[in-house]
Amino acid sequence: MVRHVIGNWKMNLGERESERLAASVLAGIGPAVRGLSVAVCPTYVSIPAVRRVTEGTVLGLGAQDVSSEAKGAHTGEVSMRMLTDFGVKYVLVGHSERRADNGETDAMVAAKLRAVMRSLAMPVLCLGETRAELKAGKRDRVIERHLTTALKGVKPKRSERLVVAYEPIWAIGTGLVCDPEEAEKAHAHIRKVASKLLGKEWSRNNLAVIYGGSVNAKNVGGFVARQGIDGVLVGGASLKAGEFSRIVREFVRGGERS
Ligand code: PGA
Repeated sequence: MVRHVIGNWKMNLGERESERLAASVLAGIGPAVRGLSVAVCPTYVSIPAVRRVTEGTVLGLGAQDVSSEAKGAHTGEVSMRMLTDFGVKYVLVGHSERRADNGETDAMVAAKLRAVMRSLAMPVLCLGETRAELKAGKRDRVIERHLTTALKGVKPKRSERLVVAYEPIWAIGTGLVCDPEEAEKAHAHIRKVASKLLGKEWSRNNLAVIYGGSVNAKNVGGFVARQGIDGVLVGGASLKAGEFSRIVREFVRGGERS
């Protein structure tokens, strides 16, 4: 199973800064690593600049969002084909910030997921519970709700792949990282539910479950060692080349040990 380390730069960097950061990350992560896929997701307008630096390298390119529509009168939107034209390989869908700031519902997320699945890019479906839901013991139910709505009726082809990012909302940007043991349990639940919806064999071969929420170079070791944690989605710490490269190297070492 390929593991994934993905940086989500959110709305933080302009064109030149993005270009520079991509170049520094490339220098920091070194040569290709078998079994590990590394990517960064700049804001839409910086994608062309980052592509100039990353094309043909081990650093993949991702996008933070996409329209569910193929084309037409959708002011301000960007279609999947426009992204693939720029070599985008990963697309985040359903990030909790988009659900909160832009009112994205599970149904909208499901439509976006289908748009990405129809392309050659890899969807990264983000989901996770709020602090209140966690306290009320509803984590697994929230996971089920998100997955069921997003994946209902999806019949993936053998060649298609999916990344689910377990991102507890209370851990995003807060410095409160999820206990790796708890993350492992949540990931196991995600696998169980996804296997029911997409088939056991398909899920075993084509589904990766990664963790996101306040991951940094210091705490990532706890996730690398865990069963069923197939990578990480990194926000704040991905804005520093040294920090992000150290996270990647932890996964490289983890891969060599296993
Ligand atoms: P964070 O963000 O690493 O800054 O918590 C993670 C994310 O939003 O994907």
